[in-house]
Amino acid sequence: MRKRFLPITIITTILAVTAVAGYLLPQPTHALPPRLLLVNKGGNVIFTHQQHSKDFQLKCGQCHHYTASAETAPPKCESCHPTIFDKQYVDMHKEQFSNEAYCNACHHNSEASNFDHDAHLEYTDKDCQACHHDADIEAKPSNCADCHEHKSEADMPTLRDAAHKRCKDCHEDIFEEGLKGCSQCHVRDRKPLSPPEFEKPCSDCHEHPVNDLIPNTTNAFHGQCRGCHRTTGKGPYGDDFCYHCHIK
Ligand code: HEC
Ligand code: HEC
Ligand code: HEC
Ligand code: HEC
Ligand code: HEC
Ligand code: HEC
Ligand code: HEC
Ligand code: HEC
Ligand code: HEC
Ligand code: HEC
Repeated sequence: MRKRFLPITIITTILAVTAVAGYLLPQPTHALPPRLLLVNKGGNVIFTHQQHSKDFQLKCGQCHHYTASAETAPPKCESCHPTIFDKQYVDMHKEQFSNEAYCNACHHNSEASNFDHDAHLEYTDKDCQACHHDADIEAKPSNCADCHEHKSEADMPTLRDAAHKRCKDCHEDIFEEGLKGCSQCHVRDRKPLSPPEFEKPCSDCHEHPVNDLIPNTTNAFHGQCRGCHRTTGKGPYGDDFCYHCHIK
């Protein structure tokens, strides 16, 4: 009786081993990888890419949140979320993108604004001094940028700080939203950028270091994977569920 089962046992074992090996080995880069092996110090993670996108019906853009349209392979998360934004990253990063549209994700052009001057004359009952200086400083109301510059000088606030201070008198709530509030007044320009924009360091305009503006690799993955599981109440996210993603 037992001998009859031997061939079946052998075949089943081979199939099982093949399946497990296929599951654990890293996949070559296809247009749509079924699974991905993410190697890291917390214990490797096997990410069920196809299951997430097909079975859980998640749109590509929910995870690949910066993908140039008409692009089949989105850039790796690490190309924008490195371990650290050091000199090595800055030296290497320009070659990591297939399309210059990606440059705007960080080197944005933010000249355009939503500010409606006429509407504000109504909101302030035509009180020009709600924003402008009196005649001691401004002979007549003019553009803040005529006097306030990009870079700070002694006793003279930058354009950013000067304008924001006035707007904050009435819009403190927007500024409390931090980076998420910027776009209520500033409109990002998605046109491809030219060298002058690249020459400005982030700190010219932002008070925070780059690492606080853009999450590093681990925070990007944890933020996205655990963040979605937390908000949807599906999939592992809590402190007791580390090993539902990481292999011990
Ligand atoms: C939803 C899945 C998921 C859960 C839950 C999760 N992680 Fe992670 N974790 C990841 C992914 C994905 C990465 C990044 C993989 C990569 O860098 O390619 C990662 C990276 C890490 C790293 C790597 C740091 C480094 O420098 O390489 C550590 C450590 C870590 N996780 C610890 C934890 C701990 C501790 C918990 C539980 C409190 C946890 N993780 C829960 C998915 C998860
Ligand atoms: C739930 C999140 C999620 C969804 C949805 C998703 N992806 Fe991904 N995808 C990832 C992650 C994470 C990686 C690994 C990126 C890395 O290693 O930096 C990846 C990797 C890839 C890669 C391989 C890139 C490489 O260089 O190895 C391709 C191609 C890809 N995705 C295409 C798509 C397409 C097309 C869709 C929509 C049909 C999609 N993905 C949906 C999270 C997702
Ligand atoms: C082309 C560059 C680029 C790529 C590629 C990219 N990101 Fe980002 N990511 C950014 C920038 C810039 C920010 C900060 C501004 C913002 O939120 O848009 C960010 C923010 C985030 C945040 C914080 C969002 C929030 O609301 O606070 C998470 C989480 C994240 N990325 C995860 C990922 C993951 C995971 C991948 C790969 C699937 C990825 N990113 C690919 C540029 C990129
Ligand atoms: C994930 C964010 C990010 C993306 C996307 C990005 N950069 Fe950068 N880039 C940076 C950071 C951070 C610096 C350093 C700025 C600083 O010193 O404050 C920088 C600096 C630069 C510099 C000046 C430093 C040098 O080496 O000369 C150039 C030029 C540049 N980037 C070009 C590009 C181009 C071209 C692209 C698109 C192909 C691009 N960057 C995409 C983040 C990014
Ligand atoms: C809510 C704030 C606010 C109030 C109130 C305000 N302004 Fe302005 N004004 C600005 C800002 C900010 C600018 C800079 C241009 C811009 O960002 O649109 C400006 C620019 C101007 C300019 C230069 C426009 C140009 O294109 O050269 C004139 C002139 C001006 N204001 C006149 C006035 C007068 C007159 C009043 C009162 C009747 C007034 N403003 C009230 C905020 C204000
Ligand atoms: C004609 C030049 C000139 C113009 C135009 C100008 N400023 Fe100023 N601003 C100054 C000078 C000079 C100081 C520094 C002297 C001081 O602190 O009173 C200053 C200081 C400030 C300060 C800090 C001191 C304070 O009053 O709280 C703020 C805020 C400010 N400006 C906002 C603005 C805004 C907003 C605009 C445009 C609506 C503007 N300024 C237009 C010259 C100008
Ligand atoms: C004296 C109070 C006051 C000041 C100062 C002020 N605002 Fe407003 N703002 C308002 C009111 C009132 C509204 C209309 C109600 C609302 O949306 O909150 C408004 C609305 C807005 C809106 C929404 C769109 C619109 O125009 O209705 C934007 C954007 C805006 N303000 C930008 C600014 C900027 C930029 C500054 C600084 C230059 C500024 N505000 C200064 C009172 C003010
Ligand atoms: C309530 C509206 C409002 C909000 C919110 C706001 N800004 Fe502004 N910002 C302005 C106005 C108005 C100016 C002056 C524009 C001018 O006069 O040309 C300005 C100027 C600036 C400048 C100076 C422009 C330059 O090129 O030097 C920078 C940088 C800036 N803002 C960055 C930010 C960032 C980053 C955020 C989010 C953290 C933000 N702003 C949020 C209204 C706002
Ligand atoms: C010329 C001024 C300027 C420079 C230089 C600058 N920023 Fe910004 N940044 C802004 C303004 C204005 C906003 C708000 C409007 C917007 O979203 O474009 C902003 C917004 C942002 C946001 C929030 C975007 C979002 O969608 O929530 C991030 C992240 C950011 N900047 C990162 C960077 C990094 C990284 C660099 C350097 C590579 C950089 N910035 C260089 C002015 C600047
Ligand atoms: C945009 C939402 C979203 C993102 C981003 C996301 N997930 Fe999920 N995840 C889900 C949903 C929905 C489920 C299904 C849970 C269920 O059906 O009970 C799930 C289930 C899981 C499960 C348990 C089922 C399985 O596939 O083994 C794991 C493990 C998991 N996710 C890992 C990850 C990792 C690792 C990442 C980041 C690389 C990630 N997820 C990103 C939505 C997301």
